[in-house]
Amino acid sequence: MIVFTFSQVKLAKNIAKKLGAKFSKIEVNYFPDNEVYIRFNKNPKNKDVIIVESLTKNPNEKIIQLLFSSLTAKELGAKKVIGVIPYLAYMRQDKAFKKYECISAKILPKILESCKLDAIFTLNPHLHRIKSLSEIFSIPVFELSCEKEIGEYINKNFSKDWILIGPDIESKNLIRNISEISGLNYIILKKKRFGAKKVKIFIPKVKGEKAIIIDDILSTGGTIIETIKELKKKGFKKFFCIIIHLLSENSIKKVRKYCKVISTNSVQTKISKIDVSNVFSYEIKRYLTEKPIREIDELF
Ligand code: R5P
Repeated sequence: MIVFTFSQVKLAKNIAKKLGAKFSKIEVNYFPDNEVYIRFNKNPKNKDVIIVESLTKNPNEKIIQLLFSSLTAKELGAKKVIGVIPYLAYMRQDKAFKKYECISAKILPKILESCKLDAIFTLNPHLHRIKSLSEIFSIPVFELSCEKEIGEYINKNFSKDWILIGPDIESKNLIRNISEISGLNYIILKKKRFGAKKVKIFIPKVKGEKAIIIDDILSTGGTIIETIKELKKKGFKKFFCIIIHLLSENSIKKVRKYCKVISTNSVQTKISKIDVSNVFSYEIKRYLTEKPIREIDELF
């Protein structure tokens, strides 16, 4: 088994270590006209190949890299080719908000299917009007969640008087599960979006002073900043923010003026403090060995 990546070295190395697999970086170069050149540094023949890459920091480029590398691995004789795509791009455009718009969430699966991947493993995908990825994919897609990792981080670092905050109704299941693991109370807010950069947050009656805001995505930072402003009006004084997929490092500077923020290594950044490699290695092992959960537990 070989775990490959283009840019997510830390996460891919951790996954490889936990699977007892080799690790290798895929070579990428560009021709003068910007066409991409891709080469494996290890022979994928007769191996199970895992390609780890989040579709962010230039998502369109990452999609092409994934397409070229997965098809090449198959041509070179790989057994199974698995895509580990912690952040699955384009899921937010899940309906035509205006006439004649492209519904990207329904197109991306068609592109990924043409990669001939045997399976895709992804982390806390952004699902709103589409309830499950099986509605839009016709290949096996495993929707994994890092709630255990976040819950354990909170357990280690926070006292029980902090309150978990979910900024919108879609965050409810995630926050409720983290609340069960961490033993902290939680509230779910209401969010109304007025375009890509503007949101308004509505807060129910609540008492508390310390808030841990948890969101799946940080893009412009607008959701977190508006949430903090509204919580302040209700008497909250201390804030901490945990993000699963950090899409914009520039936005960290903006959010930091309001609170400390950390993220998982779904996307590797300077503030990736929660490792999600276990989530993937555990499920991949189960998928490849088709062993029952108890036997897999013994391997870890
Ligand atoms: C949206 O519903 C997501 O859960 C996030 O709240 C949103 O994508 C964050 O984006 P931004 O940082 O631009 O407010």
